Amino acid sequence: MFKSKSFRFRWINAQCFEFQLNNSKTLLTDPCYSCKESFGKKCPPGFTTQDLEGCDYLFVNHSHGDHVANLQEVYDRFHPTVIAPSPICFELAKEHEFVLTDIYPVDYNQTYYFDGFILETFHGQHHRYDATYQNIAEKFKGKYPGSRDLNALGSIFNMNFILTTDQGFRVAFIGGNDDGMLQRMAGTKKPNIVLRNKMASSAVKEGVAEAFADWVNKADIQLLVPMHYETWLTEDPVFAKKVFSDMNNMLESSHAVARAACIERTKWYTVNITIEED
Ligand SMILES: [Fe+2]
Repeated sequence: MFKSKSFRFRWINAQCFEFQLNNSKTLLTDPCYSCKESFGKKCPPGFTTQDLEGCDYLFVNHSHGDHVANLQEVYDRFHPTVIAPSPICFELAKEHEFVLTDIYPVDYNQTYYFDGFILETFHGQHHRYDATYQNIAEKFKGKYPGSRDLNALGSIFNMNFILTTDQGFRVAFIGGNDDGMLQRMAGTKKPNIVLRNKMASSAVKEGVAEAFADWVNKADIQLLVPMHYETWLTEDPVFAKKVFSDMNNMLESSHAVARAACIERTKWYTVNITIEED
């Protein structure tokens, strides 16, 4: 067998992933793995900022409390470059103590060149959440941390991305709705692996496997790593397991190449390209 490493990564919680690239640079997304609000009960028990291995770059998909709860702690420990959609950057600066030049605003449909990866950015759209600017503080109170303004901005501005490593391996990160990503990922733009939020909010439990399998069939990718289903994992683990085993059965019977890889939270995994003798 011949094997070459693409990158190491782990899913920590919600949309928080830690990546270690081949040039040793590290990237963290949407840091939220512990908080005192009720969302804390869904986080991996005992995980803290001390358990992170590194963070040269920190990416914020959107600024709801369950995506930025541990942002200040990560910044204080690693002083990363904080990459976030332009419209939320000033509010992030006001709510956190960051050296302002460490904030790296990014816009939609752009390409950015970092040490170890190229970042392509795309418009993102949150799953429907019935909150107005007037009542969002009340709705999120006790549930998620964060200010009214940051949580309101999180419902409006979301950003998906495709990361291309130095060796050309492509990883898509999609939170919320598809929002045109199927078209953007078509043809030569296709990623090798997709990290994808559920198709709807955790409250929707009907037709989940079918909808997810349908999206993966249309995307015609190789591997899907589902994310942000910690509500199911903690409140209904039997359902969580069944959704993804049903989904893989559907993919197999429709002769799709893709499979859903349900990785365990906080455990490290390596993505390789291998050539094996049949
Ligand atoms: Fe959110």
